[in-house]
Amino acid sequence: MNVQAAPAANYDDTVVRQFSLAAVVWGVVGMSVGVLIAAQLAWPELNMGIPWLSYGRLRPLHTNAVIFAFGGCALFGTSYYVVQRTCHTGLFLPKLAAFTFWGWQAVIVAAAFSLPMGYTTGKEYAELEWPIDILIALVWVSYAVVFFGTIGIRKVRHIYVANWFFGAFILAVAVLHIVNSAEIPAGWMKSYSAYAGVQDAMVQWWYGHNAVGFFLTAGFLGMMYYFIPKQAERPVYSYRLSIVHFWALIFTYMWAGPHHLHYTALPDWTQSVGMVFSLILLAPSWGGMINGVMTLSGAWHKLRDDPVLRFLIVSLSFYGMSTFEGPMMSIKTVNALSHYTDWTIGHVHSGALGWVGLVTMGSLYFLIPRLFGQKRMHSVPAIELHFWLATLGIVLYIAAMWIAGVMQGLMWRAINADGTLTYTFVESVKATYPFYVIRVIGGVLYLGGMLVMAWNTWMTVAQGRSVRIAIPMPQAA
Ligand code: HEM
Ligand code: HEM
Repeated sequence: MNVQAAPAANYDDTVVRQFSLAAVVWGVVGMSVGVLIAAQLAWPELNMGIPWLSYGRLRPLHTNAVIFAFGGCALFGTSYYVVQRTCHTGLFLPKLAAFTFWGWQAVIVAAAFSLPMGYTTGKEYAELEWPIDILIALVWVSYAVVFFGTIGIRKVRHIYVANWFFGAFILAVAVLHIVNSAEIPAGWMKSYSAYAGVQDAMVQWWYGHNAVGFFLTAGFLGMMYYFIPKQAERPVYSYRLSIVHFWALIFTYMWAGPHHLHYTALPDWTQSVGMVFSLILLAPSWGGMINGVMTLSGAWHKLRDDPVLRFLIVSLSFYGMSTFEGPMMSIKTVNALSHYTDWTIGHVHSGALGWVGLVTMGSLYFLIPRLFGQKRMHSVPAIELHFWLATLGIVLYIAAMWIAGVMQGLMWRAINADGTLTYTFVESVKATYPFYVIRVIGGVLYLGGMLVMAWNTWMTVAQGRSVRIAIPMPQAA
């Protein structure tokens, strides 16, 4: 099935424009913090003795900024764009959509202040304190109303598969956030989790893993199913496979969380369930990747001279890589080596930089010119430059972390004939140092690419504005 060509309905694109630009801005901010903390791991003095700049406070700032600000804004923007085009209608309650934009920016600003100040629940990817959690819940429920309301008023019978993925992402994140954030306030910026002990850990990693599965995967698959066929001007390779992909993926992800808690107090059978479901997860993940890549059937030559398509397709190869690596790392004996090491960080960033980052950039390069009345971005060579900076950056980052990770794991478990440890911990830190420096270089390249994108976006928007002074802006198709 093809992505249906939409007639020029009255689309509400103000909010799409706002979210798309915000994604670029927060991408620069989040990745800059990433580079700073990467540098602090190599040169700890870079915290300059200021508590606000200490690693422990900036790390959650980085993860929140890249996942929820950069990734989140891109997901809001693209889902609002796609749902209107594929439903042939404007947004349901555009004013509520405007509230989701300003509400989400308020959440991001609140995070940007509260995390460096040291306010945290201590739950990874759910660090924000309870008043901010309430705001997130309000914004998210409004998002669901706008998105599903738009599907409700659609002018075509069929609901295109990208909307299934966006819809699952919105519903799952609502449930995850509300359940995992159940907490008892003990002051304005202090709370205690409603759960205790191992239950707390289980709920947290059910949340954490599904944040990966739904926030960092399902929503971006929604992007993939719309923007790859559009940019390649080809129908999705197999629509039937996309439906199987959808149901298999969302069913399986929910059970894999315990692979984050191997060898803990969590009952052993629960850990094994997590491992088995993680291994099964390889199949739907690769099914989706193959479906995306094969959409290029008969159009492979386009990769040669279309850097936007290259962003989208290379993102899928990183998706395939990280969803092969993840199931392997979930095997308990492999996890015994990889856990606590930089291998995990390498895995995270092959997914985050390679999959999430590149698919977002490709989709934004498709969207931004159309949203601002232009045929293409201001500079196509700059997109090309961005692609190579990003790719080189990712390779340096993840290769350094894989080598460092396996090395750390092996050094920590090495024992002498008399049973004593072969290496002290500090020896493993010293051996890791060169790899941390290589990661900084990779990060600088990746951030450099993002800065090129910000410049190109600025120029495209400026060009669009000068055109608009003379002619009213056309509806984006
Ligand atoms: C310039 C690019 C980036 C650099 C230099 C960078 C650097 C870092 C560093 C140094 C850490 C801490 C690692 C540790 O504690 O050992 C980290 C953690 C993390 N980053 Fe990035 N990052 C970048 C981009 C991104 C992007 C775009 C995403 C997501 C879309 C992302 C997601 C994460 C996550 C989820 C973690 C936590 C990993 C864990 O706890 O296992 N990063 N990053
Ligand atoms: C089939 C898919 C996947 C499976 C089975 C999987 C499995 C795993 C495993 C076993 C770990 C290590 C847990 C530990 O030792 O603590 C892990 C960590 C992680 N993975 Fe994946 N992974 C998959 C795909 C992805 C993708 C596509 C991304 C990013 C877009 C991602 C992001 C992460 C993050 C952020 C962590 C670190 C969590 C933390 O400790 O903070 N994963 N994953």
